Amino acid sequence: MPDFYPLARKMLFRIDPERAHSMTIKAMKAGLSPSVNAIKDPALEQTIWGLRFPNPLGMAAGFDKNAEVIGPTFGLGFGFVEAGTVTPKPQHGNPKPRLFREPGHEAVINRMGFSGHGMNAFKANLEKFLGGSSRPPGVIGINIGMNKSQKDPAKDYGVLIRMLGPMADYLAINISSPNTPGLRDLQEKEPLTELLGVLMEERKKSCGNHPPPLLVKLAPDLDEEQRGEIAATLLNAKVDGIILTNTTLVRPEGLPARFAAQPGGLSGKPLKGMSTQAIASFYKLTKGKIPIIGVGGISSGRDAYDKIKAGASLLQLYSALVFKGPTVAHSINEELLMLLKADGHGNIGEAVGTAVKMNKKDKKTANGS
Ligand SMILES: Cc1cc2nc3c(=O)[nH]c(=O)nc-3n(C[C@H](O)[C@H](O)[C@H](O)COP(=O)(O)O)c2cc1C
Repeated sequence: MPDFYPLARKMLFRIDPERAHSMTIKAMKAGLSPSVNAIKDPALEQTIWGLRFPNPLGMAAGFDKNAEVIGPTFGLGFGFVEAGTVTPKPQHGNPKPRLFREPGHEAVINRMGFSGHGMNAFKANLEKFLGGSSRPPGVIGINIGMNKSQKDPAKDYGVLIRMLGPMADYLAINISSPNTPGLRDLQEKEPLTELLGVLMEERKKSCGNHPPPLLVKLAPDLDEEQRGEIAATLLNAKVDGIILTNTTLVRPEGLPARFAAQPGGLSGKPLKGMSTQAIASFYKLTKGKIPIIGVGGISSGRDAYDKIKAGASLLQLYSALVFKGPTVAHSINEELLMLLKADGHGNIGEAVGTAVKMNKKDKKTANGS
């Protein structure tokens, strides 16, 4: 397929980033986004949590906050789509402008603040999609978060699990967005233990015999001691998966001062190393027992492979779609496949965590192989 994106990108980058995003969603809803062939190869397929992933690359949370374009996103060649973050009530989020791109560094800063239409609208959109005749193969995750005004987080996460859990292939508990005051405090040991206890119970009550796996999404901005505590808590609570990482509050050197000075979470290339390092650290701390979705700065097959070798079984991206365009999932999967084959791997599962040094007795891939 000829690559029209350089031209489209020129036009989109002249427009305010949030407007460009709304236009993209509108175009996708109207069926105007391209349909990109997904790379199909047994080496890229995995079954994790009993779910079949046709390829390891997913669309990260934040792109489709209201579950409006799940079908067209699969049409870009992603193996799974994580919609949300959805909150119980609709909310406007932070004042605009609140989304900034830096093409020279392929970086984004956002301080959206969980803007969205709320869970009723989300549910109606998802029902419409699931009720349609042409559900593509692939997995649908639902990323949930609390409203800014909520003082008791467990209430919001609980109601979201009740309302949306039965429709999700997996649930992602977002406690790591930097733009909702107090949210990241839920990563601390006591609040996390308490929250997970309530949510596991709620999932058991609401989701019948086939409860969706429950994943926790974490920030890259945690020190080794915090990581150790969180890993122990997640293992204890029998959480099914970890998503690493959300955006960072850190501003690596070299970013233009005007861009770096914007408050909010940084994503894209400058986040890549921090996120890969967090993956390796959690893989080691959990002894590979909890499957990890690696996300942060992936824009090539090499980036994807590095995260797999650091311990990720699955991957996601968002920022690279902005800079590379709609064929990005296709080209990353294509390159990843070549890299796996060059190293003699018959399946991704064989490469998971191979760059992490562990005691031999601990060394088990998250896929259980
Ligand atoms: C504009 C924007 C909005 C985002 N919104 C959310 C969100 O609602 N929930 C969430 O868990 N992560 C959100 N993220 C974080 C992404 O899911 C991802 O973790 C992060 O951007 C790192 O991946 P990337 O470097 O490939 O973009 C958002 C990211 C961006 C750029």
